[in-house]
Amino acid sequence: MSSITITKLHPSLGAEVAGIDLSKPLPPDVAEDLSRALADHLALVFRDQSLTPPQYLEAARVFGPPMRQHYSQHNMADFPDIGLIWHRNGQQPAERWHTDHTNREKPPAATILYGVEVPTAGGGTSVANMRSAYSALSDEERSRLEALKTVNGLDDGKDDTRPEDRARYDQPIVHPMVRTHPVHGSRAVYFHIQKAKWIEGMTPEASQTFMNGLLDRVIGTDNVYHHVWRKGDVLVIDDRATLHRAHGDYDRSQNRVLWRIIVEGDRPVLV
Ligand SMILES: [Fe+2]
Repeated sequence: MSSITITKLHPSLGAEVAGIDLSKPLPPDVAEDLSRALADHLALVFRDQSLTPPQYLEAARVFGPPMRQHYSQHNMADFPDIGLIWHRNGQQPAERWHTDHTNREKPPAATILYGVEVPTAGGGTSVANMRSAYSALSDEERSRLEALKTVNGLDDGKDDTRPEDRARYDQPIVHPMVRTHPVHGSRAVYFHIQKAKWIEGMTPEASQTFMNGLLDRVIGTDNVYHHVWRKGDVLVIDDRATLHRAHGDYDRSQNRVLWRIIVEGDRPVLV
């Protein structure tokens, strides 16, 4: 074991990691512990970090290789594997529950957010435990979900998507609605309601109704960690077993600037 300290932030998920300066290279044993901690706790928080873009990209590699984000108009010009979340740049907070980039054959293992500027109130990020959501379902519902697959593409209704991004990333990609975590071995409910155009065998309308009903049933305060941002926070979210959402409840005359990196994961499978 390395010298890091891990403190739980919520009974269901989320943990704060102390004793790490992400601007410095991490020894292999620390990197291994962090990957395991992410799989166990599903959201990790590192406080008081101060990172340049190259340092941030290097630190992210602990969780996987950074992958290109598909709404390229929001990617940093000099560091295109870092996306800028900033409403003044036309990037509105994603307020519906989702996991990231399900329109990719190998969606991200993790989404990493770095709080560069944060508002004085509001603008938090919530993360929901889809592993416990799966466990809480009845046997019958679990069996039903295990048989379902989503067909994913880019979100509808975004009018600033570049044609080259749409051509490259809006191809139909099929994923199981329950996936097995490659590190933890447990199962979790897995879908992105806006990227899932339909569930195989169901109409798009029926698919949306089904997914909305599922979200209402499986997400509650008992399985949600709400992150209140402090400048310098790094939040790592395990995209393989959680959903997350942003909160737009902040004063828009203030800045909320997060740098986002997503790191490549495995192709989702149910085993
Ligand atoms: Fe997201």
